[in-house]
Amino acid sequence: MVDIAVDFAGLRLKNPFIIASSELTNTLDKVKTAEERGASAVSTKLAFLHVPFPARPYHIVERHGGFYSPSGERLDVERAQRLIQESKEQTELAVIANMMGPGEDLEGWATLGRMLEEAGADMLELNMSCPNVGLMAKQLGVEAPPELGAFLGQNPQLAGEVARAVSAAVSIPVMAKMTPEANTRLVAAACAAGGAAAVAAINCPQSLPGLDIYNGGRPLYPTVRNQSFAGLCGPWIRPLAYRHVAQIRQALPDFPIAGGGGLMNWRHVVEMIMYGATSVTFCSLLYLKGYTSFSKIEGGLRKFMEEAGYESLADFRGLALPYIVTPDQVDYVTKLPAFDLEKCNGCGMCAAPGHCECIEMIDAVPVLVKPEECYSCAVCYFLCPRDAIAMEEVTA
Ligand SMILES: Cc1cc2nc3c(=O)[nH]c(=O)nc-3n(C[C@H](O)[C@H](O)[C@H](O)COP(=O)(O)O)c2cc1C
Repeated sequence: MVDIAVDFAGLRLKNPFIIASSELTNTLDKVKTAEERGASAVSTKLAFLHVPFPARPYHIVERHGGFYSPSGERLDVERAQRLIQESKEQTELAVIANMMGPGEDLEGWATLGRMLEEAGADMLELNMSCPNVGLMAKQLGVEAPPELGAFLGQNPQLAGEVARAVSAAVSIPVMAKMTPEANTRLVAAACAAGGAAAVAAINCPQSLPGLDIYNGGRPLYPTVRNQSFAGLCGPWIRPLAYRHVAQIRQALPDFPIAGGGGLMNWRHVVEMIMYGATSVTFCSLLYLKGYTSFSKIEGGLRKFMEEAGYESLADFRGLALPYIVTPDQVDYVTKLPAFDLEKCNGCGMCAAPGHCECIEMIDAVPVLVKPEECYSCAVCYFLCPRDAIAMEEVTA
């Protein structure tokens, strides 16, 4: 029997699955759903002492591409307190309170932290990573409140001071949520030095979706007439999230990390843990596919662990890190493409890449015409829609 429980900065979680702060966690009913569907913890919707930039949420979904979230609802502290208190009374979940203080006003951060602790939060999550407040206002030159969100989270010194102020003000663990717009190694290390008990990585990077090129560059989407820079989340940011989690893990070998960003199935959970995450977070999966997909993740993870012979998450946490080296240290294996003509349908995709003149289609059959020029890049292998290419070691 495998054990997927995890000690996350003092929170004893029955599994590593945390529902990330968003409109998935802004009401008691949704928190209860998270529990019913198998989560061990929720991070409640972002709370402020005084809500800046009140905005109605809207989302932009490209069917085979990005999921953009340009703005969102925010909770005032009274509503957040009620939500936390009721969630603690009516569920067994660990409740993490996502919060943003007033920029450089450290006493404001501490006050908000104390209020959410009093409401019953098990952990505070310092939001120094939202791309939709602060950072955007600064970029657009809008008169803005002081350093907020991802703007604050780009500044290791200020982030560390915020972590120190809140950690000193409360007795529950404090987690700092990282923006991928920063050098997260430095920011995470500064927060840890300031007394944070954990970090979460990553929040959304800033982005812009495609537009209506036949209509003067207006937004392409039916529900808005203009748009703001948008937090990009979901599958497209997963490799970015892996990178940040691995880099933070390299900098802080034993520090609790909640890894998230684009996790859509159990395989991604395994990958994130192998890159060093202690627990994992989900947001876009639930926006795009609902809880049915989420509920399959625990079974997939358990089955994988049984088959691989792992008894606990610690058995495979960080396993991928020794494979990460600088480019000059990459250990190459020379392999050449070999074509399985039974599977090949002659589509020619393997011969198309512009950088490669090694493969030619001859009578609708791929032929490695210049093996001596092939440098084993394997693009053909990854492109083949029929898995008809094997990369085979050169023996002679
Ligand atoms: C609609 C929406 C609202 C969000 N609200 C918050 C928030 O209030 N606080 C926060 O720290 N992150 C917030 N996030 C970021 C998510 O918690 C998560 O870190 C991010 O979406 C990356 O994970 P994902 O790819 O699984 O969605 C929000 C994301 C979305 C899509």
